Amino acid sequence: MILVDAGDCFFSTPTKKAPTKAEEIQELRKGRTVLNAYNFMGYQALGIGPADLQLGISTLKDFEREANFPFLCANLVDKETKNPIFKPYLIVEAGGIKFGLYSVMMVLLNETYANRVLVNAELLDPEKVSRDLALELSKSCDVVIALSHLNVDTNEKLLDSNPGIDALIDPLSRSGSKNIWIAENEYLVLRNGTPVLRIDGQGSRVGVFEMYFKKGEKKFADYRVVDGALEPHIMRHPEMTQLVEEFERGRLQPFPIKFDTRKPRIFEDFMGQEGCASCHAEQAAFWKGTKHANTFATLEKTGDQARTDCVGCHTLGYGVGYASAQLVGKFKEVQCESCHTSKPDHASNPKSVRLGVVQEETCWGCHNPEITKKQFQYSDAMMKASCPKIKK
Ligand code: HEC
Ligand code: HEC
Ligand code: HEC
Ligand code: HEC
Repeated sequence: MILVDAGDCFFSTPTKKAPTKAEEIQELRKGRTVLNAYNFMGYQALGIGPADLQLGISTLKDFEREANFPFLCANLVDKETKNPIFKPYLIVEAGGIKFGLYSVMMVLLNETYANRVLVNAELLDPEKVSRDLALELSKSCDVVIALSHLNVDTNEKLLDSNPGIDALIDPLSRSGSKNIWIAENEYLVLRNGTPVLRIDGQGSRVGVFEMYFKKGEKKFADYRVVDGALEPHIMRHPEMTQLVEEFERGRLQPFPIKFDTRKPRIFEDFMGQEGCASCHAEQAAFWKGTKHANTFATLEKTGDQARTDCVGCHTLGYGVGYASAQLVGKFKEVQCESCHTSKPDHASNPKSVRLGVVQEETCWGCHNPEITKKQFQYSDAMMKASCPKIKK
């Protein structure tokens, strides 16, 4: 997997006037939260967008020093030397394939903003820089991916005489303003045969671009795009929850954040149905007779068991217990903890560490009629899914 962001991820909308001290702290709080999260998640590269310059290039450089991954921008250069201020590109190997990733940014439309943020710096013509760099990278890399933070028109022009880009990630900017919600038919479009990928803004969705290679071949023969919604069936990750809570408390997070490693991590805490069954044999026998005990087999029947857009509701703990669909292991099936949640100390102290009653919203997290295309009658369904009471 290669995890990237095409930019405009740290701060709010660019402003012509320099932010006040209070506004700057607010922006820094947001930016640090994002960077700490990206470091934790293992991002590999970040393209730079116009809004990332809101606090100036030197602040962005400070951010880059704290990042475990490079910031990329091929056309932002020093005014005198004309050398790029950030790394122009990155070469990553994954699955035996050499990927060339590079990024370019649109020329800032607002002159006041440009004058304020581009001190001793300038933006070269992104179309030309992109063309030259893509051509160069295509000679040494198998697959070239552009993080192309440009207007729709410029991206289209670029691809009309494609210099060797295999896929282009487009922020869907219309004259500098970015769409937050992407229409169904805009997630993937083809321009001159090249896939152009877009995803909704503000972290509402994650775009997944799956590339399929024939054995021994270095160009992908097929691909698929998933607009992965971050809906409730993907469990909350403890470290991410900690970051968000710190942000909400109004603190300026340190760089890099120190996670409380004494806290048990949820994925080590899932007991799995066999663990629960050792004390709750009757409920386990009941569960085995429900369809929940065969949800993984359902996916296997159609070969969909490795799809990231399916496993969230057909297994236990996706996003917390395990993160790669291929490593599902003991997390197969909708298990006890999918409904009862997990508390590590319940087994050693069941009388005082209680799991409580299963909440209705737990069912709706998976029985989402928009996705399943099936109505869900809560009370009828409960009759089929509730395990027998513990006999006292
Ligand atoms: C939001 C949660 C969710 C996601 C995501 C999801 N499923 Fe399901 N799936 C369910 C639920 C809930 C049911 C049971 C629906 C019912 O019978 O009421 C189900 C049932 C099924 C069935 C049984 C046959 C049927 O239609 O009743 C199949 C097959 C299936 N899912 C395949 C998939 C595949 C393939 C994907 C990925 C493309 C997927 N599911 C993604 C929740 C989900
Ligand atoms: C589809 C959701 C679901 C799954 C999966 C599930 N349960 Fe339950 N379970 C329920 C519901 C609903 C009840 C009824 C009581 C409640 O609302 O909490 C219940 C009741 C119980 C009770 C009795 C609680 C009491 O107060 O007497 C136990 C024990 C239990 N489940 C254990 C398990 C175990 C062990 C597994 C896995 C082998 C499991 N459950 C799987 C939903 C589920
Ligand atoms: C070491 C034995 C043991 C294990 C392992 C165990 N439980 Fe329990 N559990 C109990 C006992 C004993 C009670 C009854 C406590 C009481 O009511 O006095 C109980 C109560 C419950 C209840 C109902 C009361 C409540 O709110 O806690 C549920 C639901 C439950 N267990 C689910 C689970 C699930 C799910 C697992 C696996 C993650 C699990 N248990 C693992 C021993 C165990
Ligand atoms: C982690 C996701 C998940 C949760 C949580 C969940 N379910 Fe399910 N449920 C599924 C899936 C997936 C299926 C489809 C099983 C299959 O056909 O493979 C299913 C199937 C069912 C079925 C069988 C439908 C049929 O046609 O026979 C019932 C009933 C049901 N669920 C009730 C519930 C209830 C009630 C709750 C809450 C207490 C609940 N489920 C919680 C994922 C979930």
